[in-house]
Amino acid sequence: MNNISNILQKEKLEKTDIITLLNLDKEQAKILFEKSSEIKQNNVGNKVYYRGLIELSNICKKDCFYCGIRKSNKNVSRYELTDKDVLDAAKYSYDNKFGSIVLQGGERTDKKFTDRITYLLEEIKKLSNGKLGVTLSLGEQTDQIYKQWKEAGAHRYLLRIEESNKDLYKKLHPNNNLHSFETRINVLKSIQNAGYQTGTGVMIGLPFQTVENLADDLLFFLNFNIDMVGMGPYIEHEDTPLYKYKNELWHLNDRFFMSLKMVAILRIIMPKINIAATTAMQSIDPIGREKAIKIGANVLMPNVTPGIVRKNYLLYENKPCIDENADDCLDCLKTRLKLVNAEFAENEWGDSKHFFIRTNKK
Ligand code: 5AD
Ligand code: FES
Repeated sequence: MNNISNILQKEKLEKTDIITLLNLDKEQAKILFEKSSEIKQNNVGNKVYYRGLIELSNICKKDCFYCGIRKSNKNVSRYELTDKDVLDAAKYSYDNKFGSIVLQGGERTDKKFTDRITYLLEEIKKLSNGKLGVTLSLGEQTDQIYKQWKEAGAHRYLLRIEESNKDLYKKLHPNNNLHSFETRINVLKSIQNAGYQTGTGVMIGLPFQTVENLADDLLFFLNFNIDMVGMGPYIEHEDTPLYKYKNELWHLNDRFFMSLKMVAILRIIMPKINIAATTAMQSIDPIGREKAIKIGANVLMPNVTPGIVRKNYLLYENKPCIDENADDCLDCLKTRLKLVNAEFAENEWGDSKHFFIRTNKK
């Protein structure tokens, strides 16, 4: 225990320290979590920023080996939301005081798609008098497109590195130009250079991944000077090539626990960034997101994709919390946040403080 306290008192954590922390058991991790909660309170406070997550479409030109909506998966029925669906979901987020939204979708680079996003951004700005913040999560695009979308009103961009170790990245992706590790890094850099608050992230508990890889992932975020991170457990999907390794994976609970430790250590080494409590954490533990918030995360991304939106609206009319999507029932979310001493930040963009320090804007 003494050893852990010594590590946590250090000014700067070395890779070996991070590995030690990642290997802590449940009892030992309590000290880590106490420290990360304290650092969170002192640096970003107890506010939780909401982003209404709008999943535009699951049509994707990529074929990542872990992903359920990969191009080669023929068992998925592909959809694309209409403009009205997207704008309604944005309006729903605005009316519910979320402050901002995330437009996420499978990767596409055709002009019809990129122009449509520009159009949607302009309309979202109109419907909210410029008040709704917009984060994009639409994969690898050209510098020109990043610029175009920024001018149309987007100000944050998420592109997960997925795994910062090149050799492991290669094992998780097809070996072709569309899935190049070098491109991924370069594109993340372009996003940063285009002036976006830049977010990235990794999956935790992937086949072949080691604790050392995870320590490197955390150092990657630090060295890249990243503003926001979303990371969560890898969850195997039956219709993907990686499914065959399912018996070699860490137990789901261990992947979850490792994700919590990743969030806590990240909060310690990057005190002022935004860290999301991800849905993947919630899918393993019903109060997974709240646990992540307690020990370091400060962003929640409730899914407001239509269908779910309608169910949530119905929840207000009927008995709350009996629906299968009750986890995102807004009243419940707010009550549950109070249990972990956190508070829903109404109508705030919730920008990354780290971004302003990095760019000397504040
Ligand atoms: N398990 C967990 N996360 C996944 N993602 C894709 N497939 C999986 C999976 N099987 C994550 C990727 C991607 C994000 C949108 O979803 O990190 O960037
Ligand atoms: Fe979905 Fe790459 S195909 S993350």
